Amino acid sequence: MSQDLTSLPAWKALAAHAATLKPKHLRELFAEDPKRGTTFTVEAAGLFLDYSKNRITAETLDLLVKLAQETGVAERAEAMFKGEKINITEGRAVLHTALRAPKDAVINVDGENVVPEVHAVLDKMSGFAEKIRSGSWLGHTGKRIKNVVNIGIGGSDLGPVMAYEALKFYSQRNLVFRFVSNVDGTDFAEAVIDLDPEETLFLIASKTFTTLETMTNAHSARDWFLKSGAGEAAIAKHFVAISTNAKEVAKFGIDTENMFGFWDWVGGRYSMDSAIGLSTMIAIGPENFREMLAGFHDMDVHFRTTPIEKNLPALLGLLSVWYTEFFDAQTVAILPYDQYLKRFPAYLQQLTMESNGKHVTLDGKHVDYQTGPIYWGEPGTNGQHSFYQLIHQGTRLIPCDFIGFIKTLNPLGNHHDLLMANVFAQTEALAFGKTAEEVKAEGVAEALVPHKVFEGNRPSNTILAEKLTPRLLGSLIALYEHAVFTQGVVWNIDSFDQWGVELGKVLASRIIKEIAEPVELKHDSSTNNLLEKYKATK
Ligand code: F6P
Repeated sequence: MSQDLTSLPAWKALAAHAATLKPKHLRELFAEDPKRGTTFTVEAAGLFLDYSKNRITAETLDLLVKLAQETGVAERAEAMFKGEKINITEGRAVLHTALRAPKDAVINVDGENVVPEVHAVLDKMSGFAEKIRSGSWLGHTGKRIKNVVNIGIGGSDLGPVMAYEALKFYSQRNLVFRFVSNVDGTDFAEAVIDLDPEETLFLIASKTFTTLETMTNAHSARDWFLKSGAGEAAIAKHFVAISTNAKEVAKFGIDTENMFGFWDWVGGRYSMDSAIGLSTMIAIGPENFREMLAGFHDMDVHFRTTPIEKNLPALLGLLSVWYTEFFDAQTVAILPYDQYLKRFPAYLQQLTMESNGKHVTLDGKHVDYQTGPIYWGEPGTNGQHSFYQLIHQGTRLIPCDFIGFIKTLNPLGNHHDLLMANVFAQTEALAFGKTAEEVKAEGVAEALVPHKVFEGNRPSNTILAEKLTPRLLGSLIALYEHAVFTQGVVWNIDSFDQWGVELGKVLASRIIKEIAEPVELKHDSSTNNLLEKYKATK
């Protein structure tokens, strides 16, 4: 984008339009356009999005579409799908979409088609997963593998743990899955406390194979395993690596035969459908894993080929740009009404905030607008009894994404109707609220009326799907991936690097040495004092 975002015609028109729309209540918008509940909807890849309860009109949509056109969302998406190096600060292609491309697709990176390699790794993963699932892969003492422990962090943990929880219904129940990420020894200690090393398989998942937390946990796993009396040769039966770094894998002592590779064009937070998903595949089986990939691909095709005004991820992304820029919204709440999606908000935190938490444009200029909002959430209905109070009656505008399923995987009395009634009720209450007149008409004492008023006019999206299946999960994740992409293009930032995590890492490695050795501390007075206190009493 050659022109600054805030001087684009669509931006200026949106700013003026927002000023006229802000005083309007959703009650008025629904009264003026009674059909908006059916017209402001879009369906793709098994997902139905109702975005009618947003503070928008047809004009808002037109202008947001224009903004996407003026910032080149479709062109940039095409560049991504074709394998161009759109991660400019790292000089890399961004090709998570190749991980779910069909076998006959051709996607070239530096003149080489990457699709055959992707499928070769998938086939290797399938063979291995089947061996674990069938019990034909035996531990070094001849016992069957019963426990699978994934050690990774960030994208090498959040995707696997989220997908395992999300698809637990489809998982093989005689296998136990644990996920270790935190460098806090408690995480590892508790994960293995009741496991028999002879029946345990460790998946060391790290793109770089140098991440401090993961390597520390991997070494502790190795020590724990060897302490059980196993010799070094037994490691091959109990440790596999998932990485792009064969050299470091070999250095750690894992046979590269037992390594599942991926590529630098897969970002960590976009990697759960690469070999990083090996734990998912072992849990749900190769067929279900491929179904999940098909779901991702369904959404990829929709995103790539559908005009912006009907494009589900593009609309979702543009709506959050609308609130972030013109309504001072600082956060987006992700509210899945499905217990299996309990880790979905945590997964989205990395996807959204590591991607779009940037303060400079692609050409290094400080932005003069807001970028990525804070994503957070909890499964409903738990959130209703915790933080929804603030969403309904607080002073901040918090756009919400409600996610629900028409059919439950675990029918139990009328639980599901109760659950879904809450989805519909919450979005209705947020949008329309309850006026002082309505409260008074209920005979509420005058002094209490203001406390019981719900102003409403709180925006939400409702994402509905028939049933939580592996395919559906793939579509849902790809929906957010491309929504994040759309935002990043509009904001003209690099959504695929993460330099912001580096400084803390560098300082920590310096401090680790200072803790271990008696050296003069040369930090600020606060850090020096804290360190001295820690060293003196540890
Ligand atoms: O937090 C920074 C980060 O690089 C993430 O982007 C990544 O998902 C995580 O660390 C783990 O990295 P790796 O897979 O290389 O261990």
